[in-house]
Amino acid sequence: MSIKAIGVLTAGGDAPGMNAAVRAVVRTALALGLRAHGIRRAYAGLVEGDICELGARDVGGIIQRGGTFLRTARFKDFAKPEVQQTALRQLKTSGIDALVAIGGDGTMRGALALHRLGFRVMGVPASIDNDVCGTDISIGVDTALNTILEAIDRLRDTASSHQRAFIVETMGRKCGHLALMSGIISGAEMTLIPEQDVPPEEVAAAVREAYARGKTHAIVVVSEGAKYPAIALKERLNEMRLDVDLRVTVLGHVQRGGAPSAWDRLIAARLGVNAVERLAKGESGAMVALQAREVLSVPLEEAGTRQRQPDMEYYRMARMLAK
Ligand code: F6P
Repeated sequence: MSIKAIGVLTAGGDAPGMNAAVRAVVRTALALGLRAHGIRRAYAGLVEGDICELGARDVGGIIQRGGTFLRTARFKDFAKPEVQQTALRQLKTSGIDALVAIGGDGTMRGALALHRLGFRVMGVPASIDNDVCGTDISIGVDTALNTILEAIDRLRDTASSHQRAFIVETMGRKCGHLALMSGIISGAEMTLIPEQDVPPEEVAAAVREAYARGKTHAIVVVSEGAKYPAIALKERLNEMRLDVDLRVTVLGHVQRGGAPSAWDRLIAARLGVNAVERLAKGESGAMVALQAREVLSVPLEEAGTRQRQPDMEYYRMARMLAK
């Protein structure tokens, strides 16, 4: 049976680019002749029937906004079968016959539960943590990394001026991606992630060596899920009598806000369009994903003699989403 109306929700921690993804979902649905409904406050709002129909204008002016205009919620009760049944009833009452769930791994678990109950769903990965399995990158990661990078660049200015060392804590829950990537791109002296246990003695040695090599500062990036988060690490280093003026900055929720980067807006558009088109073709119980992170080599003949052509799929997308 073909679908007539799509529902869209954003769940879990908000991520920059969620609005751009909702816009893509709604405008693609309309382009395909489907109705579009926004579900407010994630699965919690779904269960309460907090649902409204969305037209093209309702998703205008949001592509550049951080957060999610549909709002979000963390809702543990959605694991309960009776709560899922209520959600199904609400979807039916609103005439929604397929759902796009935008969010992180918890959001995908909610979507899977509905799929197992026979409802058509498609997931779109969006979480600054980049801990969603099956996709190289989720919506929001790039913006969060740029925010972290700007903060660390600023911290380095003051660190160098005072010859201080800074411990900078990033978010990421149990996933070290944000810390690891920002450690690389900010040129940190040391990076600590949950996936790799590094004793504080090694951190102390790295900081001492940095100064011994003539550096005027040291930056240690620590993921919030690491064995020693920033404050605990500072205490351990102080106990070791590290003869360095040490400061801690916990970046916190500042990493979640802000206008989405060019990359996040682009993948939000691509993933949003693709999710709706797949649902319309009858696919369900899946998450749209981006994969291909290898660094390869190509012959210089190819690189130097031909011009790279734009992918005309983007042209089609641009026309459709402009409505
Ligand atoms: O999942 C995104 C995230 O920002 C994590 O990095 C962090 O651990 C968590 O959410 C914080 O959750 P809350 O906003 O509910 O405090």
